[in-house]
Amino acid sequence: MPARAAYPTAEPFLPPPEDEAGRRDLDTLRAAAAGCRGCPLYESGTGTVFGVGPAEARLMMVGEQPGDQEDLAGLPFVGPAGQLLDRALAEAGIDRSRVYVTNAVKHFKWEPRGKRRLHRKPGIREVRACAPWLRQELAAVRPRVVVPMGATAAQALLGPQFRVTEQRGEVMPFGDGGAEVMATLHPSALLRERDPARREERYATFVADLRRVAPLVG
Ligand code: URA
Repeated sequence: MPARAAYPTAEPFLPPPEDEAGRRDLDTLRAAAAGCRGCPLYESGTGTVFGVGPAEARLMMVGEQPGDQEDLAGLPFVGPAGQLLDRALAEAGIDRSRVYVTNAVKHFKWEPRGKRRLHRKPGIREVRACAPWLRQELAAVRPRVVVPMGATAAQALLGPQFRVTEQRGEVMPFGDGGAEVMATLHPSALLRERDPARREERYATFVADLRRVAPLVG
């Protein structure tokens, strides 16, 4: 029987730990992630899109992967989904400048469609390969609340059984440091919704979820 191919992982690209708890600071992590070749996606995008936000943020929001505009800008959630996220955060009374925003996968996975680069959903292997970066961001920021948006981020943090459709909006314990997690919808899913009434309804659900965590991070 042929040997099973090793799963790709970002683990060898992590910088050495900087304290006895095995943490690294965000700038060190960001610099190291820029050179990550832990999975084949490093070849597809312009560069690594690492998280941004204050190191002492009480809220960490996690998306799926950078989109076309994020890949070009090198920053998460700056395109249409990011604009919707900004609007929803403002309506929920959360100041985005105080939020750490990142993605489960740090490279843009896409396929050509004419002149456009069309988003392709990252696979489980890519999510697992990139997980060391997300774990390190969590360890460095130590947020009070983590909000995964959409199934990819929720499953990266809560396991493959987690169902956003059934469990979104539930505030649950996360890790052993007293943090909590609440999964919600992904803003791109709202943008894809064609029916305007349904889109408004889903947007209202998204804002209501964010309002639920606002008092915990204010
Ligand atoms: N969608 C995501 O999941 N992340 C981004 O950064 C942008 C769009």
